[in-house]
Amino acid sequence: MIRITDIPAWRAYRQELAGASLGFVPTMGALHAGHEALVKASVSQNELAAASVFVNPTQFDQAADLAAYPQKLERDLDLLECNGVDAVLLPDYEQLYPDDFRYRVSEGDLSTRYCGQHRPGHFDGVLTVVMRLLNIVRPDRAYFGEKDYQQLQLVRGMVESFFMEVEIVACPTVRAADGLALSSRNQRLEPAQREVAPALYRALQDSSSPTQAARSLQQVGFDVEYVDDFKGRRLAAARLGEIRLIDNVAVETTDAS
Ligand code: PAJ
Repeated sequence: MIRITDIPAWRAYRQELAGASLGFVPTMGALHAGHEALVKASVSQNELAAASVFVNPTQFDQAADLAAYPQKLERDLDLLECNGVDAVLLPDYEQLYPDDFRYRVSEGDLSTRYCGQHRPGHFDGVLTVVMRLLNIVRPDRAYFGEKDYQQLQLVRGMVESFFMEVEIVACPTVRAADGLALSSRNQRLEPAQREVAPALYRALQDSSSPTQAARSLQQVGFDVEYVDDFKGRRLAAARLGEIRLIDNVAVETTDAS
């Protein structure tokens, strides 16, 4: 696996690939089986597979959350290599943001709702870094998890709206045996919180309405940010102490918004 930290070096590498199909998985590292599923899909569907590891500061609305974000680069690189990734891009902030984030991608509707309402500016940071990474890497296909359902919809919308020549491939949420969606932030849960955490998935699955799901989450100790239905999915974000968890499931809904 080739490690590339420098954008001109990536461009030279990309040019050499000529017609070979390239899959790409952007990540913020601290990789787990959820990321691994995206990597496996990319490796199996493309002649060559690339990934990136970059903890993107512009999408963190809280400095403390950024500071606490787990970083395990050597382990991450092993996981990528073992799964057959050919090249990994490891840029730094100065390289990815020569303009210091003066130029940004902003969506004016969905990005302000749900997670966007509770994390102002978050999706501007996500869309901006994804646009930059896609423009540098120039993959044929890019892989995103349904776990971050709102992010997936916004990335799809951006690619369509800016006529970007990349296919966005969605991968189902990978869960622990007890149903908790895998997330880098799960490592920070205290044992007692980890026991309660799977209730998020259960509440989304078992509830007949968002209100009912929110109520049952509050009963087991979650601080609920939102539960809402959007395009056939029930989406939620809720906190256990400092740790913010998100999840979503498919639901039968009459909500056409
Ligand atoms: P990160 O949280 O590292 O996630 C990278 C990709 O892995 C995202 O597409 C996310 O949806 C997917 N993923 C995470 N947990 C998953 C799970 N349990 N099952 C399936 N897929 C899962 O999402 C980001 O990074 C960033 O916002 C990024 C897109 C890299 C831009 O900075």
